[in-house]
Amino acid sequence: MTSTIDQDHLIGTEITTDLWRTAVVYQIYPRSFADSNGDGIGDLPGITSRVPYLRWLGVNAVWLSPFYPSALADGGYDVDDHRNVDPQLGDLDDFDAMVAALHAADIRVIVDIVPNHTSNRHAWFVQALAAGRGAPERDRYLFRDGRGTAGELPPNDWESIFGGSAWASAGDGQWYFHCFAAEQPDLNWENEEVREDFRRTIRFWADRGVDGFRIDVAHGLRKDLSEPYPPWGEIADLMRPDGSHPLWDRDDVHEIYGDWRRIFDSYDPPRYAVAEAIVHPTRRARYAAADSLGQAFNFAMQDADWRAEDYRQVIDTGLADMINSGATTSWLLGCHDTPRVATRYGLPLEDDRPAQLIARAWLLSDGAQPYLNRSLGERRARAAIMILLALPGSTYIYQGDELGLHEVADLAPEVLEDPMARRSATEKGRDGCRVPLPWTAQGPSYGFGAAVGHLPQPDWFGAYAVSVQEADPDSTLTLYRRALALRGRLFAGSGLSWVESEPSVLHFARPGGISCVTNFGTAPVSLPAGQVLLSSHHLDHGRLPADTTVWLRVP
Ligand code: GLC
Ligand code: CA
Repeated sequence: MTSTIDQDHLIGTEITTDLWRTAVVYQIYPRSFADSNGDGIGDLPGITSRVPYLRWLGVNAVWLSPFYPSALADGGYDVDDHRNVDPQLGDLDDFDAMVAALHAADIRVIVDIVPNHTSNRHAWFVQALAAGRGAPERDRYLFRDGRGTAGELPPNDWESIFGGSAWASAGDGQWYFHCFAAEQPDLNWENEEVREDFRRTIRFWADRGVDGFRIDVAHGLRKDLSEPYPPWGEIADLMRPDGSHPLWDRDDVHEIYGDWRRIFDSYDPPRYAVAEAIVHPTRRARYAAADSLGQAFNFAMQDADWRAEDYRQVIDTGLADMINSGATTSWLLGCHDTPRVATRYGLPLEDDRPAQLIARAWLLSDGAQPYLNRSLGERRARAAIMILLALPGSTYIYQGDELGLHEVADLAPEVLEDPMARRSATEKGRDGCRVPLPWTAQGPSYGFGAAVGHLPQPDWFGAYAVSVQEADPDSTLTLYRRALALRGRLFAGSGLSWVESEPSVLHFARPGGISCVTNFGTAPVSLPAGQVLLSSHHLDHGRLPADTTVWLRVP
């Protein structure tokens, strides 16, 4: 053994029995999950109809990306009204029915809170524009005077995450700030009305039986817009280790979460929260602390390349987070913002470019490059999920990854919905992982609904359908299901020990005599002694083939 981290002694029994510390959470992108009424858009009754599938799969919770009223300028992350359901997706009664069905199946419910911005159709923003300069309605957002004789120039040269200026004109010499699309004006978190409104939103959903919240852009709420503004060149690097960036990960953001924590804890059981915080790795644990949001996504795994040393490094930092925050890490291989994992791992790696960037560049070329090795990518993605599910902590699964789905790279420009694609010349955007799921091998939308889905599914989708995979003992879906069923029984506590092995092999032991071994190399390796409990691929005469993970019970 080279190193050992066993922090069970740090954690009281009360906390170790908390399901959230180890929960497997399935992310639903509602518009692309299941369409109940044949309008091509997934909806809440569609989710309700698929609760038996989620239970059969064996997940503990679902996280729903936004289903709130929205013009879909950013896939629903442009929210018109945080306390309602988009009429295209259903209504509050449908929401209650969905929660009841999920709870009856012992599946908890997490909803998305989007506090950094509203949509430009939100009543507050409409009022702010109408009220004019200096009006209190403008103080809920970040309006500033423009430069030039009549304010005809934006206040500074800062850029939006989606490309182009971070400022949009109000038409009267003032400009409003938007980190994302112009349809997503940023809120002013120094305004007490803004704070009170989000307290109300959290209580609104918690009172309806929601068990937890995923906090969108948790690192972005507090900003320092005091002048003089530093030039964009000085702040374009978004992650700093010291909280000194004017826009991201400022220390005072945690004061907001301390306030929310009191609300979460006023419920029985306390409501759960997880931060989407894209921050310097040393700053992640702060969001996961018990007096802040309580858990934070570990995006490093999503950025890791398919290499033993990359995985080991990401796991080590995630374990360090646990010690620093007292919370477990939330691992994930993908989400609605990232090219699908099977595709990332099926493209050839280059030394100087990570898999994420290679996949994004490949998308932009319309997938014309013949480099994708689909079966290799799927095989690695299967080995990868077995690593995640063997780690201490919680794991998030993005809808469709359990089918081994690939990115839909060749969506025609005219069907793209993502503002990232529209605003930027260097991004194809995120629609390729948001194509409606295939449930059956045939049908107008492969069982997604009675009509063609809002983003076109490619011909190859049928082969990945749930109906094709559910009875196939070798399918990716079967592997997920087996792994989820075994996981709860095999892995306990939060200890992990590295076991010495050759450089291309990742081997760790968990309490209770269970080991997880992955061969990242190109040739089969011999397996340590033990009983094979699950394997991501058939073994090769008792040896562990390339790109394969096994769970072993060691004597
Ligand atoms: C988060 C969401 C992403 C959205 C952005 C702006 O990063 O995951 O989909 O575009 O916030 O709300
Ligand atoms: Ca529908």
